[in-house]
Amino acid sequence: MEILQNDLLLRAARGEQVERVPVWMMRQAGRILSEYRSVREKAGSFIQLATNPELAAEVTIQPVDILGVDAAIIFSDILVIPEAMGLPYLMEEKVGPIFPEVIKTMADVDKLIVSDPEVELKYVLDAIRIVKKELNGRVPLIGFAGAPFTLLCYMIEGRGSKTFSKAKKYLYSEPELSYALLQKITDSTIAYLKAQVAAGANLVQIFDSWAGILSPEQYRIYSLPYIAQICDAITEVPVTVFAKGAFFAREEMGKLNCETIGLDWNMDIAESRRLIGDSKTLQGNLDPCVLYGSFDEIKKQTRSMIQQFGGQKYIANLGHGVYPDTDPEKVKCFIDTVKEYSL
Ligand code: CP3
Repeated sequence: MEILQNDLLLRAARGEQVERVPVWMMRQAGRILSEYRSVREKAGSFIQLATNPELAAEVTIQPVDILGVDAAIIFSDILVIPEAMGLPYLMEEKVGPIFPEVIKTMADVDKLIVSDPEVELKYVLDAIRIVKKELNGRVPLIGFAGAPFTLLCYMIEGRGSKTFSKAKKYLYSEPELSYALLQKITDSTIAYLKAQVAAGANLVQIFDSWAGILSPEQYRIYSLPYIAQICDAITEVPVTVFAKGAFFAREEMGKLNCETIGLDWNMDIAESRRLIGDSKTLQGNLDPCVLYGSFDEIKKQTRSMIQQFGGQKYIANLGHGVYPDTDPEKVKCFIDTVKEYSL
């Protein structure tokens, strides 16, 4: 049995009593720290960094040392799953991810493999193993994967989009292809998350970043059932589901077989608690733009947020990833304010 010096995150996720609120930030590794940018420069590119286990481990631990967060999240990307299934991506400066080849036909779906994590994703698992050794029990490590629907968006559209209308077109015009693709992604993701846990991840989070572009009915058909399969399969560690924009699905998300539901900043805290029920831990949901405000404003907004959530069954976080141009001192102010809040 692993002994953690700080297990606040895991206790909060399991609904156990905590003496203070745990805090971490989505996208805390990368984006904001100059120390990250120097390692990335040394590596050459984002992909070279993500596929180098030593360097990926180094940037995973930076926010623990520099910002004092209560958990590390493994430095990787949600797009490693499409790549492992046979659809490689490029990361273009100022554009973001690009897939040179995309899914167009059922034959394309048939060609994809259900990846074996110890083969195609060994570099992520090696990074996790190094992080665990170097963290030496200081804080828990969070593993993650994209939700099947969010990955389908990139695999069909081939790049980021405001509407993902090309990808959504398939849900209406090619439902059979969509189901087959979602199931293959789900199978790969379950094997991948189980391998992350076996390598040492203490909790896993599913990012459904594009949930908000679906109608409630489509969400019920094309996203929730696949997230539910993942939640049912991961029994070893607590699971967090973060579905950005899925305000319309909160009641159903409360019935998922997971421990924690992440909220974005559009979601009213009291209303979310009422819809989701008392059995889940909630995570979130400060608007990342609050961190552009003054130190006093950040403290005020952070305290008000904790007060609304209440101190138990709660993990403090932002409502989505921290923005790249955020001052690390402002980030520290947010984290310290949570850590100083007395319950
Ligand atoms: O805390 C962390 O940052 C850990 C690592 C992490 C990355 N991506 C590294 C990354 C995590 C958890 C992700 C998740 C991710 N990736 C999501 C879901 C979370 C969310 O924010 O909604 C999504 C949708 C992606 C896909 C992706 N990767 C996009 C759209 C982009 C380009 C824009 C951006 O976010 O920076 C990426 C690139 C990426 N992934 C970078 C990093 C550090 C920037 C690449 C660089 O350094 O040039």
